[in-house]
Amino acid sequence: MNCRICNGQLSKFLDLGQQPIANRFLLESEFDSEFFYQLEVGICNDCSMIQLVNLIPPDELFGQDYPFFSSTSTFMTNHFQMFADEIKAHLLPPDGFIVEVGCNDGTFLKNFTDFLHMGVDPSTLSNEFMALKEFFNKRTADWIVGMMGTADVVYAANTVCHIPDLNEFFQATRALLSPDGFLIFEDPYWGAIVRKGSFDQIYDEHVYYFTVTAIKNVVEMNGLRLLGVSPLETHGGSLRYYVGKQQKEIPGTGVTQAINRWSASEICTHLAKLSSFSKSVHLTRDKLRTLLSSLSGQIVGYGATSKSTTTLNYCGIGPDTLDYITDTTPDKQGKFSPGMHIPIVHPDKFYKDRPDYALLLAWNHITEILKKETEFRGKFVLYVPGVKIL
Ligand code: TMP
Ligand code: ZN
Repeated sequence: MNCRICNGQLSKFLDLGQQPIANRFLLESEFDSEFFYQLEVGICNDCSMIQLVNLIPPDELFGQDYPFFSSTSTFMTNHFQMFADEIKAHLLPPDGFIVEVGCNDGTFLKNFTDFLHMGVDPSTLSNEFMALKEFFNKRTADWIVGMMGTADVVYAANTVCHIPDLNEFFQATRALLSPDGFLIFEDPYWGAIVRKGSFDQIYDEHVYYFTVTAIKNVVEMNGLRLLGVSPLETHGGSLRYYVGKQQKEIPGTGVTQAINRWSASEICTHLAKLSSFSKSVHLTRDKLRTLLSSLSGQIVGYGATSKSTTTLNYCGIGPDTLDYITDTTPDKQGKFSPGMHIPIVHPDKFYKDRPDYALLLAWNHITEILKKETEFRGKFVLYVPGVKIL
């Protein structure tokens, strides 16, 4: 297998076994036709991009029924609103044009309805803001430029790492951006995944696991420059990247341009580090299985996240261990988890049952969840960062 970006050789370093489509919560009638593939990760020996070895075609992944809504998390809603305020204050002139790639339910873009704006997303719900229900590519970028002109800001949150043809993405952005415009995108950071041991961030939709080194390489290969990087708390540790057509300061955001320092210190890309990460992932699986099998009383899952599909299938945790998974998303309730087929239920059942243990599958929302679940008398079981009972 060769690198999707530069065609260099990939070195495989992690195998998470046979996995179903992470976000395909299913009905019992669909169990027999479920699709599985081998979830493996490699690093490119040339451009350093960490990527999945095998992919599922994107039109299988993000259809009409893509059951993810950014606004279900208040933390994420606040996160987007704060950054929208920063963009308005420093990066977008009053008559400016902003495009969001992967605008989802508009949690971010709804902050810009007073501006010229456009979302691009094949699964968007767009009655409160302008959006193009398409994949973002050179064709859609050219169409937007033809209709609305070039953009001052192109933003994408937790989207770019999903795009298999990253060269086309950056070429399309280059066509869309004004000469002084900024592409700003944020995605989970590979260094944080290694540090936290959050192997469950690895699943089909996340084709790439970014590092500053690899992003610098890929943007430069496509005639753009990496102008700044800033660390974020979201999704267990992310980085926000600022990219433009020319070398310039990023006004007012407090982002320093320590790109070279970041890339020089990125030991998370070294092969020895990658293989020790792989070993620690196997250890986490063994510890979690041992812990869960030692518990008595009712155990359930909390948060039917996409991430949980990797965890549950890799660790072999099924309905014999977790009675059900509680989740606030109406579209998931009444369905079953991919691969392991654990029932997903409305939180009312969780409140009524008062289980003894809840495996925190939505660990990235831990602060919000602990604040909300003060009445829960059982214990939370955590596996990121590290296996423990809270
Ligand atoms: P995410 O990690 O991809 O943001 O998905 C979070 C999932 O967890 C989503 O399906 C909603 C669910 N969830 C709850 O059920 N209760 C909660 O309090 C939170 C924050 C999320
Ligand atoms: Zn490469």
